Amino acid sequence: MPKAEIVPIKDQTEKPRRRRSDRVRVMPRVPRPGMSRKKIIEESRRWLSLINAHKLNDYKRRKIVTETIDNFRYYYNRGFLEYRKAVTESGEYAAVEWSGRGSHFEDVTGRRFIDCLGGYGIYSAGINHPKIVRAVKSQLDRMPLSSQELLDPLRGALARLLGELAPGDLQDCFFISNGTDAVEGAMKLARLYTGKPGFISCIRGFHGKSYGSLSLMGKAEYRLAFEPLLQDVYFVPFGDAQAVENELRKAEAVGMAIAGVVVEPVQGEAGAIVPSPDFWPRVREVCTRYGVLLIADEVQTGMGRTGKMFAVEHWDVVPDIMCLGKALGGGVMPLSAFMSTPEIWKVLEPNPFIHSSTFGGNPLACAAGIAAVNVTLEEDLPGQAAATGEYLMGELRRLQRRYPEHLMEVRGLGLLIGVEFVDTEFGYSVAAGLFKRGVLVAGTLLNAKTLRVEPALNIPRPLVDELLDKLDDTLQELTA
Ligand SMILES: Cc1ncc(COP(=O)(O)O)c(C=O)c1O
Repeated sequence: MPKAEIVPIKDQTEKPRRRRSDRVRVMPRVPRPGMSRKKIIEESRRWLSLINAHKLNDYKRRKIVTETIDNFRYYYNRGFLEYRKAVTESGEYAAVEWSGRGSHFEDVTGRRFIDCLGGYGIYSAGINHPKIVRAVKSQLDRMPLSSQELLDPLRGALARLLGELAPGDLQDCFFISNGTDAVEGAMKLARLYTGKPGFISCIRGFHGKSYGSLSLMGKAEYRLAFEPLLQDVYFVPFGDAQAVENELRKAEAVGMAIAGVVVEPVQGEAGAIVPSPDFWPRVREVCTRYGVLLIADEVQTGMGRTGKMFAVEHWDVVPDIMCLGKALGGGVMPLSAFMSTPEIWKVLEPNPFIHSSTFGGNPLACAAGIAAVNVTLEEDLPGQAAATGEYLMGELRRLQRRYPEHLMEVRGLGLLIGVEFVDTEFGYSVAAGLFKRGVLVAGTLLNAKTLRVEPALNIPRPLVDELLDKLDDTLQELTA
């Protein structure tokens, strides 16, 4: 069967080439032009020159836009073109990002946006923080990844810094590259230490999408197609310590063995849901009483986002295992970790390779992590998050009083803020309206009618005011 031609969105300078071998190959799900090996080398060379270029002319900028759309459509996942609602619904289908600094980023055509999404919480220190970038560049020039056999000084140094910073007796640390793997490791550690299989998680909780972490997922849409997941996971409403206790009591009565209770301090993807003040202390007490590990998933809330270095500190609670990610890499490198106490950690020591990762804790990531810790403390990012968060939420609540039929709730802690609108469609329209006005926000994964506002923790006050003005402007337009 002949290959279908790609119909380019705009002019495409290259004509699709066919390979001889194409004739006998089964047509892929999405048709693509064949590229010879020589052409692939040329293409990679062209992209390298774009990556290394200091300046791009208009032609190249426009070509990057049309190519990126085609590349996503034919080689990545065309679903993303439709899904990025804040981008697509504002008619800016082809917004292709290119550079950023602080609380601004630019698309490839040079349009500037205020970043109030923070890369889903990774840019707590802002985009491209110079101190963090410098540390990574210096380490890059010296040694990018590790030999694996020699001891890696930055890994040790970052582990110590986190061990000193973490609450209570959380002292030991293992590094990986994303939040999912932090949760995965925490689950394995809990099973290894307790010798028990089960977990309790929360409805609408979000902990990642690998099989273990997905088993804790509190929304059916993301789990159903992959069932059966881990079997011994039980769900309770978020913020309900009594329900946790009831579940543990039932489990004990019928001989089901629970290793740990996994909870986000503030539910992030569910839309910045803050539990009542007694929730965390009560869950701590219940877990201790039943001999079950308390696992705090601080992937999104950690590193100052909620106004404290770690969100559990709002309630003076020390979990048994804590997961970190997102902002831990300073918005420059992927880096995550799970931490626990020396008593629990000892089960990992007889065979330290019982849980390992080739890239976890690599020197580039750890250089970024050390710099992120330094910036977070030196610039008092948690303090800034608390102050700016209070101001922003106060102003958002004032807006809520002006648009009570459409803006239903403002909630959050520090700069993890959810703004809930009357329905999903309206929420999307607000995100789109803001994007059109040069401000990026987005929905949360589990609750699309809630916009997440997660800017850099050091976002300057005038930019916060600009966000508020533009939100007001958008709401006026949409409710007119
Ligand atoms: C609380 C929490 N845990 C885990 C994850 C998964 O992290 P990642 O996407 O880096 O794997 C997320 C991601 O949003 C999260 O918010």
